[in-house]
Amino acid sequence: DITFVTCTAPVNIAVIKYWGKRDNDLILPVNSSLSVTLHQDQLKSTTTVACSAHFKEDRIWLNGKEENINQPRLQSCLKEIRRLVRKRRSDGDTSTDVLSLSHKVHICSENNFPTAAGLASSAAGYACLVYTLSRLLGVEGELSAIARQGSGSACRSMYGGFVQWHMGMQADGKDSVAEQVEPESHWPELRILILVVSAERKPVGSTAGMQTSVETSSLLKHRAQAVVSTRMDEMILAIRQRDFSTFGELTMRDSNQFHAICLDTYPPIFYLNDVSRRIISLVHRYNHHYRETRVAYTFDAGPNAVIYTLQQHVSEFVQVVTHFFPPETNGGEFLKGLPVGSVSLSDELTRAIGLEPL
Ligand code: DP6
Repeated sequence: DITFVTCTAPVNIAVIKYWGKRDNDLILPVNSSLSVTLHQDQLKSTTTVACSAHFKEDRIWLNGKEENINQPRLQSCLKEIRRLVRKRRSDGDTSTDVLSLSHKVHICSENNFPTAAGLASSAAGYACLVYTLSRLLGVEGELSAIARQGSGSACRSMYGGFVQWHMGMQADGKDSVAEQVEPESHWPELRILILVVSAERKPVGSTAGMQTSVETSSLLKHRAQAVVSTRMDEMILAIRQRDFSTFGELTMRDSNQFHAICLDTYPPIFYLNDVSRRIISLVHRYNHHYRETRVAYTFDAGPNAVIYTLQQHVSEFVQVVTHFFPPETNGGEFLKGLPVGSVSLSDELTRAIGLEPL
């Protein structure tokens, strides 16, 4: 008598970053953020949750290894979902009776990409966990507010396409929820490339890093009070109009401001390395050559570059990256799995970019 459900949830990549909490327990941010959710069959978490009267306790396995179930964030998500089940029952819904509240769950979750390498694994993981639990136990409601309590960025992976996480005003966090701005189909030419500079675990995790930033960075306060709100309006307009040039510039400026906050944190936090900075230069030189923003980078809490561009520029840009990061250099590794471009580069373009050799 085991009942189980399996679901997947993709990673999301923020173009307006979340960095800093006003409430550490409920995970309420100091500013709103906006991201793009990847396609379902790309970087994703897959979670199976089983439920049975025979299970003696809740248990969880991550990538095949059993982990401690008594982590506060995990417990918050389980508690909130069970609260919804109770609420449905008290509202007179009998369909959830099959799965008794006293039933324990076994959770099994896997990522198809490196965990904690700054690739937003917690976002896909918690979004997937909350969604799978909700399916198994037959509950509906504001699920993004529950995923948020697992990991802030997870609330945005509850929707596809372009997603805004409203910071909200309430102390109980009820209005700190994700909302879809546009579906994935709105901008079919948009592409995301991930340049895996390093798949190692990051030295300072985002949770600890942003807490130190909140305590010590005055730039973080300035950003929350005077930058994000206008930038958010501009970003949403750029997305609605499919204006890549504005979308790309805002994305790069926001990534740079986030890393400036990391440097303004005391002691400072460094997520970018020399390869990351070389990618930044390459992108600017490429765009400068065309006098147009064709490619944009963004970096999370790690050295890996996420590149936003449009379908028609993918082949050429991948060729450019291959040229300036040849496979024999340490950078060559990150091109694994990327489509190899079919265009050949003109000498004029490579000369114009003219990046110094590694
Ligand atoms: C740099 O969501 O991982 O990726 O809420 O503490 O779990 P917690 O942090 P997390 O932070 C993500 C930070 C970021 C920016 C972003 O995704 O918006």
